Amino acid sequence: MNKRVLLLGAGGFIGSHLVEALSKKAIYSTTAVDLTKDKLDEILRPHIGVEFLQLDIAEDPERIGLLIQEHDLVVNMVAIANPGIYVQDPVSTFELDFTENMNIIRQCIKHQKRLIHFSTSEVYGKSPSIYQPDQAFYFDEDNSDLILGPVSKHRWIYASAKQLLDRVIHAYGLKDELDYTIIRPFNYVGPRIDFLPSEEEGFPRVFSFFMDALLYGKPLYLVNGGDQKRCYTYIKDATDAHLRIIENEGGSCSKQIFNIGSDENETSIEGLAKTMFHLYNTYFGRNASSNSTFESISGDEFYGEGYDDSDRRLPNSKKIRELTGWSPYYSLEAMLKETMGYYIARHENVVIQ
Ligand code: UGA
Repeated sequence: MNKRVLLLGAGGFIGSHLVEALSKKAIYSTTAVDLTKDKLDEILRPHIGVEFLQLDIAEDPERIGLLIQEHDLVVNMVAIANPGIYVQDPVSTFELDFTENMNIIRQCIKHQKRLIHFSTSEVYGKSPSIYQPDQAFYFDEDNSDLILGPVSKHRWIYASAKQLLDRVIHAYGLKDELDYTIIRPFNYVGPRIDFLPSEEEGFPRVFSFFMDALLYGKPLYLVNGGDQKRCYTYIKDATDAHLRIIENEGGSCSKQIFNIGSDENETSIEGLAKTMFHLYNTYFGRNASSNSTFESISGDEFYGEGYDDSDRRLPNSKKIRELTGWSPYYSLEAMLKETMGYYIARHENVVIQ
């Protein structure tokens, strides 16, 4: 019999890629749950063998409980995951990312279902380099300290909520009441990552701000100068890791936390802006507008009061590589070419229609 997989929060960026990948594997039957399905509409065809349910998990917790009972495996991707929203609406961030997630965890315990839970690289917070600037520190799932900023910087409500969930899940695992895997994504990028701010109001992640600036002739804003660093992971590589975790060969992923990311794809945010600008003009042969300049801006000015930042996020990805054989393929430049290509083509369609 097929393995029945329940994907909660399936309509987001990561979910839409996972749904697509699972639909190509005959051994799974997938139920995808979310409030909206715009991103899934790009991939879902009637024959694809995925059932989509439009549900608000906060409005219908009993239905979610029943669905969890009916499936073999639960993949939980329900979250607000954009820093702009943590700053603008910290209470909603907490309610969804903690309270509603706790209901999912409790139902998995009640019905004895394996849970794959999406945490975040943001739980590591700031790197110890803020105290020892000359050293590079790798984030290790089982040994690194988690360093968050003060309460007055409410950006950290997201990382705190996610961190506490990781600790709760671990604690239930210790009692043998929950079989789980926790995934910590390191800045995934790829088609469908976020909307563009010229087309929809709100705060996407940095890739979409820069892409928007290039397509619509606006400045590329470097928050606090753009020296902060991130390691980028292409969504196809990430989805490959997620599938290996779902397969869980020999139970090797049970009760594990995994960093999914690669230190080879590290860049400063200024470096990311410059690489995207360069690719836009050379690889894609377009002329960025003279308005697309690089401009430094303070975090409070860009996001509002309460913003703070991670200075650097270097993943130690030894565990996922060793336990599942995963190895990422895409370089930073290759993933930017793929992702920018998608947004440029989409933009041309919008302009043509
Ligand atoms: C976010 C989320 O908080 C994480 O949970 C998530 O795991 C992570 O994205 C991710 O994509 O994996 P962050 O990396 O801070 O964390 O998100 P971005 O909005 O992409 O910002 C990256 C950096 O770019 C930040 O330092 C931000 O200040 C800066 N930025 C953003 C700019 O310099 N200019 C912009 O226009 C936008």
